[in-house]
Parts: sequence; structure tokens; C-alpha cells
Amino acid sequence: MKNTPIPRLDQNAELRNRLTKFCRLKPGQIWEDPLGKHRVGCLDCSLAEQVSALMTDQSACLAVHDPPYNLVAFDVRSVDEYIRWCHGWIAKTYDFLSTNSAMYVWLGADQNDGFQPLPDFMMMMRRTEFKARSFLTVRNQRGYGTQRNWMCVRQELLYYTKGMPFFNVDAEYTDIPKILRGYYKEVNGAITENLERSNSENIRAGNVWVDIQQVFYRMEENVNGCYAQKPLKSYERIIAASSKETDLIIDWFAHSGSTLVAAEKLKRRCFTMDIDPVFCEITIRRLERLRATGKSGWQNANPFQEEIEADPALRRLAGHPEPETLGQHELFAGT
Ligand SMILES: C[S@@+](CC[C@H](N)C(=O)[O-])C[C@H]1O[C@@H](n2cnc3c(N)ncnc32)[C@H](O)[C@@H]1O
Repeated sequence: MKNTPIPRLDQNAELRNRLTKFCRLKPGQIWEDPLGKHRVGCLDCSLAEQVSALMTDQSACLAVHDPPYNLVAFDVRSVDEYIRWCHGWIAKTYDFLSTNSAMYVWLGADQNDGFQPLPDFMMMMRRTEFKARSFLTVRNQRGYGTQRNWMCVRQELLYYTKGMPFFNVDAEYTDIPKILRGYYKEVNGAITENLERSNSENIRAGNVWVDIQQVFYRMEENVNGCYAQKPLKSYERIIAASSKETDLIIDWFAHSGSTLVAAEKLKRRCFTMDIDPVFCEITIRRLERLRATGKSGWQNANPFQEEIEADPALRRLAGHPEPETLGQHELFAGT
């Protein structure tokens, strides 16, 4: 695999703008999977008619949303405005979820600004019909923060339900073996130790997930240019726990297309959208790449490899060196 990373697209407006000409979707358009499974819309989830256009009359059994967190890479709004905006797409999600269904929302808490928007979002959710079920934490390997504070390695993930959805507890088991003995309990008159009583040799993820590697450039699933990509393993766990094969899953903030790719791998269907045509194109290309090669991302190459290599202006913007020109000794050979 070539090393041809591209910069974060939110930090290189010119590159992002020039890539739009290679995008098959314009705002308002929807891509239909030729295999009839998935949809990707270049849509705004705050516009009810656009959400309805994506969904038609179908309802999903699982929503996995990863909105911008009102921190970076987005037009930061007042917390009230942000929460009003969230309330809009949450209400629409409720409408398009089936009677018994689940919703997961990734969110952030800005420790430099009163932990917004996480607590405000949780309070807003109390005014909806959704039932709060779990506050999950995914531990990142790399953190941020200063030398004067606890390093921030937490990624928050909220789990809500509508009705009484299915939950596959087997999906919760990690690859981490149980090592702690010594929790004794009497069962049928005999004292048993915890490892004897358990259904599995491995520990359950519980609501603190410590076994998921953050995406970085050496991982196959990495999508250079994306700034907020979540690990496929987290999506696979969510999808396996809260849906069955052929079920429909929704995600209204596609970005690198993680939900769609995990849904494809686990034989589910996914209707997703992103407001930005470049991220819609990346999502579609990632699915096509998975189907063509079995690879889940571009590792340290990028989704617009061919287009960028063919255009010197794009190559410059992407920070790629010019292709090797003839060396002096070759230029003068034979003279
Ligand atoms: C945090 S990222 C999602 C990351 C994703 N889970 C992944 O693993 O790649 C949020 C995405 O939401 C998109 N977005 C922002 N506002 C939107 C809106 N109103 N409607 C749809 N998408 C929006 C952004 O363009 C961005 O790609």
C-alpha cells in the first residue's frame, strides 16, 4: 500500500473544495446501492423532508449517530442552539425507528467549557420518549490534555431504547480472558468460584470498553482525510448487540462510512447521510472498496488516490511529492 495520506479535510478547505468535482452526489441527492441494500444521501438531517426522502416509508431497528460535538470541525454554536438542533434530529430518529428499537449516540464533553454539550444533551433526552439504558465509555489509547490535568482518554457513547428491543448479550464478550479468581458463592450447597460459574472464559465489555484500538494510519480501516472516524470494532459490537441480519440501521452522520461498512460486514442494511458531498463519496467508495477487495479502508493511502495523483495542483494541496523526474545522470546519458 502506498503512503499517500491527505490532510484532514476540515483543515484544508481548498483540497476539500476541489475534490467535490469527483463526488457523484450533489446536495439533496441519494445514492441507491445497486445491490439494493444501502442508501447514502447528501442530506441535512435537520431538514425533515430530506430525512423522509432517505427513509421513504421504512423504519429501522437501530440508529447509531455520531454528530459533530459542538467542539471543533463544525460551526460551533451556543449550547442552547446546539441542543435545539439535536432535539430536531432526535425527534426524527424516533419517528423512523420501529416500535422496539435501539439508539446509540456518540458525544463529547468539553472539559474546558463546563463539559458541554454532554450534560445538556442528556437533560434534553429526558424530555423525549427514549428510555436511557446505558452510559458507555470507550477508552481511547491516545489522549489529550495538559500536564496539569488528567489526560482525557474517554469517548462517551449513550445507549437509549424505544419499546423493548432485542439485546444479544453474546455480542458483549471481549477477547480478554478472565484472570481474577476468588469471587465465591454457594450454588446448590457447594461453594463455587467465579470462573467455574461463568458462561465464558472471557470478560464482558460492560459499559467501559477498554479493548478497542483507536483508528490510526497503520490500520487497514483508516480513511485519511477524515477527522472523526470511529473504530469498526465499536460499530460491530453495537450492531451485533442491537440488530439481526437483514435489519435496517440508520446513521445520519456518515463521515467515513463506518456504520455502513460494519452493516455490510454483518449482513445488515444501512441508510446513511452526510451533509458534505465529499464524505458521502468517501462512504460510497469505502463500501465499493470493501466489496471489491475485502479491505475496510485505505490504511495510509487515501480514497481519491487516482484523481490526486493525476493532477499536480491536487498533489501539491495533498502534500504529495512530484513523481520522480529523470535524474541528472539519466538526462545527460549518452551525450
Ligand atoms: C463526527 S463525524 C461522524 C464520524 C463517523 N461516525 C465515522 O466513524 O466516520 C460527523 C459528520 O456529520 C456530518 N454532518 C454535520 N452536520 C450534518 C447535518 N446537519 N446533516 C448530516 N450530516 C451532518 C459532518 O459532515 C461529519 O462528516
